[in-house]
Amino acid sequence: MSTESGTGNTRQDWIARSGGHPLRGNLRVPGDKSVSHRAIMLGALAEGTTRISGFLEGEDTRATARVFEQIGVRIETPSASERIVHGVGLHGLVGSSNPLDCGNAGTGMRLLAGVLAGQAFDSVLVGDASLSKRPMRRVTEPLSQMGAVIGSQEGGLPPLRIRGGASLHGIDYASPVASAQVKSALLLAGLYAHGETSVHEPHPTRDYTERMLAAFGWPIEFSPGHARLSGGHRLVATDIAVPADFSSAAFFMVAASIVPGSEIRLEAVGMNPRRTGLLTALRRMGADIREENASEQGGEPVADLLVRYAPLRGIDIGGDLAPDMIDEFPALFVAAACAQGNTTIRDAAELRVKESDRIATMAQGLRALGIEVQEHPDGATIVPGPIGAGTVDSHGDHRIAMSFAVAAQRAAGEVRVADIANVATSFPGFESLAASAGVWLSTAP
Ligand code: S3P
Repeated sequence: MSTESGTGNTRQDWIARSGGHPLRGNLRVPGDKSVSHRAIMLGALAEGTTRISGFLEGEDTRATARVFEQIGVRIETPSASERIVHGVGLHGLVGSSNPLDCGNAGTGMRLLAGVLAGQAFDSVLVGDASLSKRPMRRVTEPLSQMGAVIGSQEGGLPPLRIRGGASLHGIDYASPVASAQVKSALLLAGLYAHGETSVHEPHPTRDYTERMLAAFGWPIEFSPGHARLSGGHRLVATDIAVPADFSSAAFFMVAASIVPGSEIRLEAVGMNPRRTGLLTALRRMGADIREENASEQGGEPVADLLVRYAPLRGIDIGGDLAPDMIDEFPALFVAAACAQGNTTIRDAAELRVKESDRIATMAQGLRALGIEVQEHPDGATIVPGPIGAGTVDSHGDHRIAMSFAVAAQRAAGEVRVADIANVATSFPGFESLAASAGVWLSTAP
């Protein structure tokens, strides 16, 4: 198919179905998206040269690298998944008269808003059709409280117009949303602010910005749910080894858990505790997932995950666990559809403002395959049952597309997954890696 999708990419669909046999293999999924974005950003703002290994060659993270090149940072690609960032220091970026295109990436745009609020030059941040519908007030409002001057479209939507030369001051901010992107935007603006910037979260979120700032030598205090730093220091280049992305591994954790007889080893997966909520949830459902060869890579815990098929049972999920698995709910919906007994998800209203409204798109897609789903404002109840053949629309959302490729492994017939081009934003090579494990997946003619 070659129509334009809602995301601006040429539209592509998948046909997915069960290969009729268990899933097998040792798989290494690509580098972590959150860490890759931050490594480019802090590398750019540091003094000296930062070498990044395991960089995610996804469209989102490449968009962030392109933005920094556009504002004066030299970034080399010695080989795939490697970058050498020639840092320009905190005050070495140069303005661009063209808009800075973040593509599909909420992380790129929100964190960049924090960085650019502290610059001497004006900037305009734009994104694709999906990103242009995502809420930015959550960052523009607290950044304005810090003294930033940022204009947005009606409803707080992109493009963001950021005025240079503002004098920033630190604030003590209690965020109404549990969002690592909000926290990170404020901390990055805080590098340029007078005084102390402090962020409190309603539930702890991933702490990569904090850990990486510390690794680049910036004094920072943080604990789950809180971070604070002061302006006026410098970032010193360091090398970053990006671990494999737990969120990408998640699709294979669910796939191997639901296809009888399967056994998959996922190698050297990043196990930051603020990311592994799906593991907790799947184990509570009865999944057989073992951690082996636990070690540390670039200051982050990593482990191999040995996943074997196991019958799953429905559970209730909410509270602090929700932010720890915020990107894994689409995969969890699929596990729930294959379990014994209902699964109810609560406290996950943030899913409504991701790359798509993930509660609605998962409910709609599962219903199209014969599964009953009741939507709640902050979650859903999934009533498991046999998965049928059918067509589902991913709404240009990478994680929805990959989740339905996984669901198809238990379907009675073929599943057409529509609008899958954005899988490349986070998981280039998903199709071939999945095929190597025995997933039957092909691009529709
Ligand atoms: C991210 C934080 C999460 C997550 C996103 C990446 C990050 O978003 O959904 O995929 O890198 O900080 P929120 O912090 O807005 O929940």
